[in-house]
Amino acid sequence: MNFTFYTLSEFTSFSDMNTLILTINLKPANMKKYIILTCIAVILAVSVAAICSKENPGSEEKTNSGTIKLLPPETTGGMPLMEALSKRQSSRNFTAKKLDEQTLSNLMWAAFGINRKDSGKRTAPTANDTRAVELYAVMESGAYKYNADDHSLEQVTNKDIRTLAGKQDFVGTAPLNLIIVADYSKFKGGKNEIYAGAHAGFIGENVYLYCASAGLGAVIRAYVDKEPLAKELNLGENKEIILAQTIGYTN
Ligand SMILES: Cc1cc2nc3c(=O)[nH]c(=O)nc-3n(C[C@H](O)[C@H](O)[C@H](O)COP(=O)(O)O)c2cc1C
Repeated sequence: MNFTFYTLSEFTSFSDMNTLILTINLKPANMKKYIILTCIAVILAVSVAAICSKENPGSEEKTNSGTIKLLPPETTGGMPLMEALSKRQSSRNFTAKKLDEQTLSNLMWAAFGINRKDSGKRTAPTANDTRAVELYAVMESGAYKYNADDHSLEQVTNKDIRTLAGKQDFVGTAPLNLIIVADYSKFKGGKNEIYAGAHAGFIGENVYLYCASAGLGAVIRAYVDKEPLAKELNLGENKEIILAQTIGYTN
């Protein structure tokens, strides 16, 4: 098969039986230059796109409001359950090392993420499926409310309030404290402290097991001065801090 390339140097048009035909004459010599230039442009565009994607490999996204769009959680793998149960324990010696983005995502999902997309149901059970519990992540960069629907952390303050997250020394230096909050406005049949405690307990155990599997330390805590922390987290009237949980790498 023979192909001839032409430059757009001239064209003529004429009518023949109601049909308009454009005849384009292109010079073969110039066409060679255009092909080479086009190839270079395509190679450059592909290279730039590849470099950009390498610089930001699946990294979590931070919006102007400070919301962190978490990476998709890894919902398979990990340590066998019986091994994780064997390793579950409370730790109180934390280093300042931060959790990487994937670990933070996995942890939040394990705690109270959506594990059935069709119904929006969670990794932890709640009475009457009310999901009447909120989870806050308190880190050096600020405090964030977990939004399970789009697996993100919505910033409530950009202040480092870790020292308010508990009365023990390690709380202020460990990279992450989860604050488990009951939302009584969502309870059917009024405030039920037993249910609130149960919700917090299930979430806490999910976190303990994930931490055992991921080589992280954790401790669930009731020893929290709730009032100043609730104020910083901007909790409304119907919300109460039930438990906190410190997470991080151990010495
Ligand atoms: C409701 C509850 C409240 C707790 N509060 C604290 C606390 O404020 N500070 C702390 O260091 N540990 C706290 N713990 C952790 C317990 O001390 C710990 O689970 C217990 O000593 C058993 O150790 P283990 O978790 O390693 O099995 C709490 C545990 C529970 C269940």
